[in-house]
Amino acid sequence: MSTQTLSLPDTSIGKKVLMAVSGVVLFGFLIGHMAGNLQVFLGHQAYNEYAKFLHDTPTLLWGTRGVLLLMVLVHIVAALQLVKANADARPVAYKMKKSISSTYASKTMKISGPLLLAYIIYHLAHFTFGVTAGLGYEHLPTDAEGLPNVYFNVVSSFQIPWLVGLYAIAQVLLGMHLYHGAWSVLQSLGINHRRYNLQMRGAASAFALAIVVGFLAVPFGVLVGLVDPAG
Ligand code: HEM
Repeated sequence: MSTQTLSLPDTSIGKKVLMAVSGVVLFGFLIGHMAGNLQVFLGHQAYNEYAKFLHDTPTLLWGTRGVLLLMVLVHIVAALQLVKANADARPVAYKMKKSISSTYASKTMKISGPLLLAYIIYHLAHFTFGVTAGLGYEHLPTDAEGLPNVYFNVVSSFQIPWLVGLYAIAQVLLGMHLYHGAWSVLQSLGINHRRYNLQMRGAASAFALAIVVGFLAVPFGVLVGLVDPAG
């Protein structure tokens, strides 16, 4: 008789752990990226010096890129496997589905996840590769101090209203994704008690809202003239 042993990543719990860990790492990047972006309110010098520091520190730049890519892949593969495992476990869909919060959350994730991936691809084409509205770092004009002018790239982009609209939609999707992600992590950790659920939902919404507002401040700040184009 053959016995089959499953390693943790093969199990449903293991996949949820992988999703949660990769999600938390990606969230850490978002905090750092948001803080970096908010420096646009300090003027072109602070912003361009920050970008120069990142680009002049290849271990930091490429280390971060490598970890991000790995985490995005882990997050996507684990998500697809969980969706498949759920479908396999219930080959015939329920005739009448109760709209309970978990099905609502997973439905939202199935929509916001792929749309966020599309946004990230667009965002890289925009600012990193410079093949859409913006210019890639290597092709940027320099500022008065001779540094590649990332500030100019950001400001000139967000003077375009439809681009601000596109980014706004993406940040709202990000907020929904983060809210449900945070909520699922808390559930997976077993922090699920009627007495605390309201506080947990409050905490998940507050942290998703903080990220959305922090990211949205930049495009809207530029659009309404709070960021000086001359910097
Ligand atoms: C409205 C908010 C955002 C602004 C203004 C913004 C701005 C930028 C800029 C200017 C760069 C290029 C930096 C450089 O070349 O030095 C960049 C890169 C990047 N951004 Fe954003 N970003 C925003 C939101 C996001 C979000 C929500 C995500 C992820 C979901 C994200 C993920 C990335 C990634 C992965 C890179 C590539 C970093 C690299 O070059 O390796 N950004 N962003």
